[in-house]
Amino acid sequence: MIERNIESWAVHEACHQMFDEGLALMLTQVSEPLLFFLHGYVLRENLRTHMEFEENLVLPLYEETVSDPPPAGSVAEFFDDHEMIRRHGAHLLDIALQTEFKEIEPSLLRQTLGAFDDLLEHHHERERKYLYSALGRHLDAGRRAAVEDALSEVERFPLEEYRGQLEALVQSDDFRNLTIPYRDWCMMLRRGQLHDLDESFEAACQLSPLWSEKERSVLQKLLSRDARLVETFCAIQDEDPREVAREERKVDQTLRSTIQYGVRAFFREMVTVEDD
Ligand SMILES: [Fe+2]
Ligand SMILES: [Fe+2]
Repeated sequence: MIERNIESWAVHEACHQMFDEGLALMLTQVSEPLLFFLHGYVLRENLRTHMEFEENLVLPLYEETVSDPPPAGSVAEFFDDHEMIRRHGAHLLDIALQTEFKEIEPSLLRQTLGAFDDLLEHHHERERKYLYSALGRHLDAGRRAAVEDALSEVERFPLEEYRGQLEALVQSDDFRNLTIPYRDWCMMLRRGQLHDLDESFEAACQLSPLWSEKERSVLQKLLSRDARLVETFCAIQDEDPREVAREERKVDQTLRSTIQYGVRAFFREMVTVEDD
């Protein structure tokens, strides 16, 4: 019983419980992919700061105090898990945008989220079983308290605090001024009708007054780049079909990266306002 208390880390469990709550909420939002994307973005930020903390403080401490971890509990395994979580998290957000803008079946989003959930669960179990339990046995009370205090201070965005704001953002004109022209563009791209656009993406997307000067200027540059790419794409229509398909993928991915930048700019602005 005593050993069990030593090995379990309530502060770490609370962090992972917050990730699980985010996943559970996203599971209810697969048919609202933009909201899913925003919540996914918050979850990814929370995971990012948590993993950076573990990589910079917890894992070096583990390496220093535990001399012979089993292969499944090696430092390399934890780094590999984190890398997979980062990659899969980015993929999940990308699928959310594709579900919204390319009208992909929400079942793919649900499946991708399920796989991400399994990955996080597996990683959490590995941390419980090897990393934190071993640290609990090896660290003296003072060092352990220092880790727990630092872990509880890692920056995070609580779901309840942001939930209402994200829901309002999805409905706002500022947000829709970016996403609606984007959706039109995706549709024209799919139908091979980009030549027929009478207004450029750049002009159709209205830059939100909520963004900082710097973000507006970055987004303006991204939109100009997108406009040039689309122009190039339209010019190669009669060439090799593989080349056309390749260029189409490029335009598609590039436009998606622009919309992601815009959405993140909204989120950063909300967080900044929150901090003031
Ligand atoms: Fe971790
Ligand atoms: Fe963790």
